[in-house]
Amino acid sequence: MAHAIECSALTRRFETVTAVDSLSLEVPSGEMFGLLGPNGAGKTTTIKMLITLLEPTSGHATVAGHDIVRDARAVRRSIGYVPQLLSSDGTLTARENLDISGRLYHVPRGERRDRIDESLEFMGLSDVGDRLVRTFSGGMIRRLEIAQAMLHRPAVLFLDEPTVGLDPVARRAVWEHVRRLRERDATTVMLTTHYMEEAAELCERVGIMHLGNLVALGTPADLEAQVGPGATLDAVFTHFTGTGLEDGGSFRDVARTRRTARRLG
Ligand SMILES: Nc1ncnc2c1ncn2[C@@H]1O[C@H](COP(=O)(O)OP(=O)(O)O)[C@@H](O)[C@H]1O
Ligand SMILES: [Mg+2]
Repeated sequence: MAHAIECSALTRRFETVTAVDSLSLEVPSGEMFGLLGPNGAGKTTTIKMLITLLEPTSGHATVAGHDIVRDARAVRRSIGYVPQLLSSDGTLTARENLDISGRLYHVPRGERRDRIDESLEFMGLSDVGDRLVRTFSGGMIRRLEIAQAMLHRPAVLFLDEPTVGLDPVARRAVWEHVRRLRERDATTVMLTTHYMEEAAELCERVGIMHLGNLVALGTPADLEAQVGPGATLDAVFTHFTGTGLEDGGSFRDVARTRRTARRLG
């Protein structure tokens, strides 16, 4: 299997909105791929189609070699998914949450306990395995959710906004664990984010979405080079989407000034 994810003219409409507009994309096995874009760009809708929660309006896609419509069951067996919104149960302990995931994903009973211990250890949660999740910080919950999604060692892991709402220290801890996880299992990871810094730090390639369209695709360095000398990924984002992330339009202005300067110089 050459590619872990292949999308061909993948499209999803909601009444008048085309949330994902003819997306074509290939993600090789083992790659860490980042889908970037402002709110409403179509990132979550893309992931929901790939994990078989939403049917495409038209187009095709395969995940781990399986068609997302015809072989939905096989796709589900091959993936892990951490949704944008909270998915762990706060009234249970970390260990109990992991046990539920283990059953849900058919981790053999004889292996479940060892896998749970190992994943708590791996995610830096060994000391809090028996604590109720509602006493956890946001970063600890995120790491637990990732552990839950990885317990059955899926070929492809989908993380929707894994670090939204976390402080910078917790964010870095999540990145570090995702990176280690991927080194261990050679998992293909597709993550969405609207933090440029995160994409540049973690992803081998990024795709920038805007209003349902993929407007740029490449390594962070490629995209920076397309925009101009010294451009940051923030400037790249603004260049392709016309919207700033944190600072309003200022990056666009910087990028435009740079382009003008180049033309003139
Ligand atoms: N269930 C839905 N019903 C109607 N419109 C939706 C639904 N889900 C998403 N959309 C619309 O599709 C577009 C893309 O949304 P989404 O994929 O959530 O974007 P992102 O994750 O990039 O913020 C938005 O305009 C959103 O309002
Ligand atoms: Mg989203």
